[in-house]
Order: sequence, then C-alpha cells, then structure tokens
Amino acid sequence: MRAITHDRHGDAGQVLRLGERPAPAAPTAGQVRVRVLSRPIHPGDLAGVQGFPGGPAQRFTTPRIPGVEGTGVIESVGERVQDLRPGQRVAFFPVPGAWGELVTAPADLVVPVPEGVSDETAALMLVNPLTLLTLLRAVEDAQHGRAGPVVQTAAGSSVGKLVSAAALKHGIPLVNLVRGATGAQALRQRFPGLATISTADADWRTQVQDATGGRGAQVVLDAVGGSLTGELAALLADGGTLITYGQLGSGSTPLESLALTPRALTVRGVSIGRWMTRTPEERAEDVAFAARLALTTPELFEVAARHDLADFAKAVDHVRRPGRSGTVLLTSPAS
Ligand SMILES: NC(=O)c1ccc[n+]([C@@H]2O[C@H](COP(=O)([O-])OP(=O)(O)OC[C@H]3O[C@@H](n4cnc5c(N)ncnc54)[C@H](OP(=O)(O)O)[C@@H]3O)[C@@H](O)[C@H]2O)c1
Repeated sequence: MRAITHDRHGDAGQVLRLGERPAPAAPTAGQVRVRVLSRPIHPGDLAGVQGFPGGPAQRFTTPRIPGVEGTGVIESVGERVQDLRPGQRVAFFPVPGAWGELVTAPADLVVPVPEGVSDETAALMLVNPLTLLTLLRAVEDAQHGRAGPVVQTAAGSSVGKLVSAAALKHGIPLVNLVRGATGAQALRQRFPGLATISTADADWRTQVQDATGGRGAQVVLDAVGGSLTGELAALLADGGTLITYGQLGSGSTPLESLALTPRALTVRGVSIGRWMTRTPEERAEDVAFAARLALTTPELFEVAARHDLADFAKAVDHVRRPGRSGTVLLTSPAS
C-alpha cells in the first residue's frame, strides 16, 4: 500500500516520504480493516512528526506512519464484529497510521458514517467535535457553576469555529481573538453575535477588557501559547483559568512570570489524547454528538483543499499558509 512515513522526528517538509509499505495485518477478532480514502492534516499531526517540545527526538527502526483520523470503506472484518460489514462507509479515531491506504483497527474505534454526511465531512467528523466536547467540559469545570466571560485564541481555526458555534448555542459569553485584521473581519461576518478582536491592534488588551465588561476573563482557551501566554494570563480575572490545548505560537513564558499564586490563577492543559480514558458509554455518547453535528452543521467542517497522498509536500505547505480557512485533506483513489 502507499503510505506517508518518516523515520525520525523533524520538520514535516524534510522528513516525510511517500513510499510502499506492507499492508497492516488482516483483522483478528474484534478488528476491522479499512481502505482509507481521505484523512485530515491536523496541526497535532505535524507536531507529532516534529516531536513534541521537551520530548525525545526519536529515530524509528520501522518507519512511522502519521495520522490518527480518517474515513474510508471497510474491506474486511474479523470474528465477533457485529455492527460493521465490508463495503460500509466509516470514520475512525484514534487509529495510528491514517496516512497509509489501509488501517486495521479495533471495531469500537470505527464509526459508520451517517447517510447524508459527505465523504469530506466524514474525514473530519471525529477529532474536532471531540476536542470541542473536551474544551467545553474543561470550561465548565473552570467555571464552578458561575459562568463568566471566556476568551479564545486562534478563533478562526476549525476548532475555534466549533467553539464559537457552541458558545452561541449555549449562551457562553465568548470573546474571539485572532492574529490579524483579515481573519477578524471574516470571523465577524461568520459570527456577528460574538466580539472578535485582532491581537494586531495596538489596543487589543483594552478591547478585550471592554468586551468582558471590565471584569477580565474567567477562562481563556488558548491554542497559541509561547510568548502570548503571559498576555493571556493578564487578561484573566483573579481566580481565573488558562486552558492550554495547542502550541501554534513561538517563544515561551516562564511560569514564575504569571503571578499564579497572588492572583489564584489556574493553568490547565487538555488533550484529546486523554479521550480514551472515558468509559465506552461516554465515548459512544461523544461519537453520537460528533455524528449529529456533522449531519446538521456540515458548514462547520470546512475543507480548505484536497491533495492526493503523492502531493503531501504541497498539502503540508498549504496547512502552514497563514489565512487558510478549513482543514487540508490527503486523499487516495477509491480503487
Ligand atoms: N489538545 C488537543 O487535544 C487538540 C485537539 C485538536 C486541535 N488542537 C489544537 O487546536 C488548534 C487549532 O487546531 P485546528 O485544526 O482547528 O487549526 P486550523 O484549522 O489548522 O487553524 C489554525 C489557526 O491558527 C491560527 N494561527 C496559526 N498560527 C498562529 C499564531 N502563531 N498565532 C495566532 N494564531 C495562529 C491561524 O490563523 P490565521 O488565519 O491568522 O492564519 C488559523 O486560524 C491547534 O493548536 C491544534 O493543535 C488541540
């Protein structure tokens, strides 16, 4: 099968290769084999190729195939698989190796795609909605039953737009931050009911203060981090919580500079990587939420472009292009 691989951590533009790899083992009991037709390039996938900051830069004896999410068609099923059959259209997460053309996965991580959900939406059906649920739960925990203003960074991202839609639906007083005027304009048009502020404006901190009614934020949801972290902590009201879930930015902020103790601030990391610690029943409810969202609001699953696996270098360049709206997909032909 064709697969994108890397044999060491490093910049995606330098270490990724397209090659022929042996197909994964045939499904055993409780497993299914999926022919993968489309998979997203998430920022987290590129971070996984790069190697996470603070982690070891590894070399792999067997080339690693990135990707954890995708959609395709079931080729074969192992014994004791009850609700899935060959030919069925499915989405899957978290299944390592999604950037290959075949995966063998536990059946409980493979979800039928509802009729009415397009193949493109199906490719994005799980990770971002499950991230949304993770973030909403973290916000709720941080609010201790007293809802106050929430600020989010990188608000024009695919996840950020899901957060905006959820905030409007649930009456969360959300303030959106983006890094440029064009992105701010686009987001204001998309979500006119929410305050959107560009951090390129000299007075953006005052604008946030005004948008939170002078109170400061109770919660900041941050996907940028780096040198912005100190600024974000300063936006919090005393007792507030900074939830960090991404690292799109550069630079760093020393923990000691955040005045955590005198201001009783909390910093909390959240990751969808912990999703598998939820019970099977909870995960089934989350997946049902994701499938419903895909069916009812496909406009929240925007695709920026599709590239065949062979054009992965172009696809990675596209992901890194500022001002991109939506997710870039890597595709494979159906036959
Ligand atoms: N913790 C988890 O479990 C988890 C799960 C899913 C996603 N995430 C994180 O969520 C974030 C969004 O993911 P996504 O797939 O929704 O992203 P996306 O659709 O690829 O969008 C990325 C967005 O980030 C903005 N951006 C990029 N670099 C930035 C910087 N240095 N400063 C400010 N904004 C910047 C871009 O803004 P422009 O329009 O200005 O270019 C764009 O709106 C990522 O950090 C990702 O790693 C985390």
